Amino acid sequence: MPDVAADETRALGYGQVDDRPDVGTLIATMDDTADWQATRHLRDWERSRLSLRPGQCLLDVGCGLGDAALSLAEDLGARGEVVGVDASAAMIAGARGRAEGAKCRVRFAVGNALALAEPTGRFDVVRSERCLQWLTDPEAAVVEMARVVRPGGLVSLLDTDWSTFAIDVGDVELSRRVRDALRVERRRPSNIGSRLADVLRAVGLRPVAQTTATQTWDAWNPDESPAPDGCFSMSSLADDLVESGHLPAGDRGRFVSTIHTAARERRFSMALTMFAVVAVADRGRDRYRSRTE
Ligand SMILES: C[S@@+](CC[C@H](N)C(=O)[O-])C[C@H]1O[C@@H](n2cnc3c(N)ncnc32)[C@H](O)[C@@H]1O
Repeated sequence: MPDVAADETRALGYGQVDDRPDVGTLIATMDDTADWQATRHLRDWERSRLSLRPGQCLLDVGCGLGDAALSLAEDLGARGEVVGVDASAAMIAGARGRAEGAKCRVRFAVGNALALAEPTGRFDVVRSERCLQWLTDPEAAVVEMARVVRPGGLVSLLDTDWSTFAIDVGDVELSRRVRDALRVERRRPSNIGSRLADVLRAVGLRPVAQTTATQTWDAWNPDESPAPDGCFSMSSLADDLVESGHLPAGDRGRFVSTIHTAARERRFSMALTMFAVVAVADRGRDRYRSRTE
């Protein structure tokens, strides 16, 4: 049987979305990941922990298509306001398209998490989901979030931790290579999920609640879709392992076909853990703590 998915690269990357030729895939994948059971669970958890009240102002940093912010907007009433900032004009265009019918004021704007064009102390709640892992300096972004939240307000962070990624296709050596490769951060803070509470503390915020959720995949037909829902392709994973020195280039094809064959034969599972932390900006703290002080 021809391996139709083997040449599909589908390397997901959200650092410079608008510069990528596959921006449509990146946007579509956002809807897939929003539908992960782990994402839905953490968003529900976040919503209950934030206990938003009518009239409050919420900022979503790296808001993507804005669906999480728009869902939280339902708690803010007509006097409330949602602001979403994202580096990608394509994402912001998508978010604006979804904002019609929102019950409160909504503003989606292109902007940089590392230098928010928002006044100090402006927001009751600041959230950011799966954005920090794409930033050159995630702590600098959290410093910015701490700056724009009001004293007594909340900062909520959700992110994946790719060091938790596990794949099981009945091949122990293959699983080990993947685990070893993803444990090491390269080019981006891919393992930020388990460090969220530390980063919040480092900028002077006080974590008050945290939880995790694990996304699992136990079925995927590589002849029908190029990658498991919301995930990169196995070719892209193989490229990553070759580049990081965990897979000889000559073994790339065998690596991919081993996974595809196992998936066709229903001997396939993957797991990835996501982390969520809500922190409070205590009144009377230093306005915000900069790492350069
Ligand atoms: C994986 S998506 C997550 C989107 C959304 N938060 C969600 O959970 O559905 C990461 C988002 O971060 C945005 N992003 C990347 N770098 C950014 C930056 N420096 N400032 C603001 N947004 C950024 C990307 O454009 C992308 O929309």
